[in-house]
Amino acid sequence: MKIGFLGFGEVSSTLSAGLLSKGADVSTCVEGRSLKTKGLAKEIELNLCKSNRELAESSDILISAVTPFQAVEVAKEIGKYSKGIYIDINNISPSRAKEALSYIENGKTADASIIGSVRKNGLNVNILVSGPYAKQFAELNQYGMNINIIGNEIGQASAIKLLRSSFTKGISALLFETLYSAYKMGIDGEVLKYIAETEGEGFRESAVSRIISSAVHSKRKAEEMEEVMELISKSSDAKMSRATSEFFKQLYNEINGIEKRPENYKEIFELINKKNRKN
Ligand SMILES: NC(=O)c1ccc[n+]([C@@H]2O[C@H](COP(=O)([O-])OP(=O)(O)OC[C@H]3O[C@@H](n4cnc5c(N)ncnc54)[C@H](OP(=O)(O)O)[C@@H]3O)[C@@H](O)[C@H]2O)c1
Repeated sequence: MKIGFLGFGEVSSTLSAGLLSKGADVSTCVEGRSLKTKGLAKEIELNLCKSNRELAESSDILISAVTPFQAVEVAKEIGKYSKGIYIDINNISPSRAKEALSYIENGKTADASIIGSVRKNGLNVNILVSGPYAKQFAELNQYGMNINIIGNEIGQASAIKLLRSSFTKGISALLFETLYSAYKMGIDGEVLKYIAETEGEGFRESAVSRIISSAVHSKRKAEEMEEVMELISKSSDAKMSRATSEFFKQLYNEINGIEKRPENYKEIFELINKKNRKN
C-alpha cells in the first residue's frame, strides 16, 4: 500500500518516520517548499515525488497535513488527480472539511482529526476518522497507527477535534498570559508551584510544554482558532474563542516564528521582552 503525505511538517514527518519503521511505503513532495520542510524530508528515507500531482496519482492513501488555511486550496489543486483515498487531517471546521473534500473527484474521502500531540505520541497518536472511506483509512492500523472510526459522515471527526481545541487552546493562552506576567515580576516559579498544588501531579511539566508549544506553533494555532470560531459562532457569540484567536495572532507577531524548539519557557518570555524593548 502506497501512503502519500501532502505537506511535510511535524505531523507528516513524525507519522512517516513511524510508518517507515514498520515497513510501509511512504512518499511526499517537497518541491518549492521551505528549507525547514526540505530538511525534515532529508532526515528520513522516503520516496520524493517531483510534483503534488505525481504524489496524488501514485498514492493509495493520500493524507493532507498542510496548514488549516491551505487545506481547501490543496484539495482543489489535487482533487482531479487523486486516484486513491484522500484523507484531510488538518484542523478545520466541519464545513471547510466538506468543502475541501468536495474537490476530490473520485469521492473516496474521509475526514480525520489528530487528538493530542504528534510530537509526544508519535505513530501511536489517537486519530479519529469519519466519512465514507473511514474503514479503509483505519487499515493503516496494521502499521501501528491508532486510527479510530467514529462515524460515517464527513465533519464528525472535525467537530470533535475543534471543540476539544476550543478548550485546550483557551487554557494554553490563559496559562501563557499568567506565566508571562509572573515572569516579568520574577515570581513565575512560585506561581507554577501554587497552581500545581490545585491542579495536581504532572501540571508543571504539561504547563511548560504548553507554553513552549504555544510559541513554536503560534501561527498554526491562530489558524486553528479561526476554524473553532467559525464552528462555535453558530451556537454562541464565541467570546472566549475570539480572545484565544487574538492571543495566538499577537503571539505570532511578537515572536515571528521560532525555528528551533527551546528547552525552557523562559527563553520565549525573554524573546518577547527583547522585542518589546526594541519597539
Ligand atoms: N502538530 C500536531 O501535533 C497537530 C495536531 C493536530 C492537528 N494538526 C494539524 O495537522 C496539519 C499539519 O500540522 P503540522 O504541525 O505538521 O504543521 P507544520 O509543521 O506547520 O507543517 C505544515 C506543512 O505543510 C506544508 N504546506 C503548507 N502549504 C502547502 C501547500 N499548499 N502545498 C504543500 N505543502 C504545504 C508546509 O510547507 P512549508 O514549510 O513550505 O510552508 C509544511 O511542510 C495542520 O492542519 C494542523 O492543524 C497538527
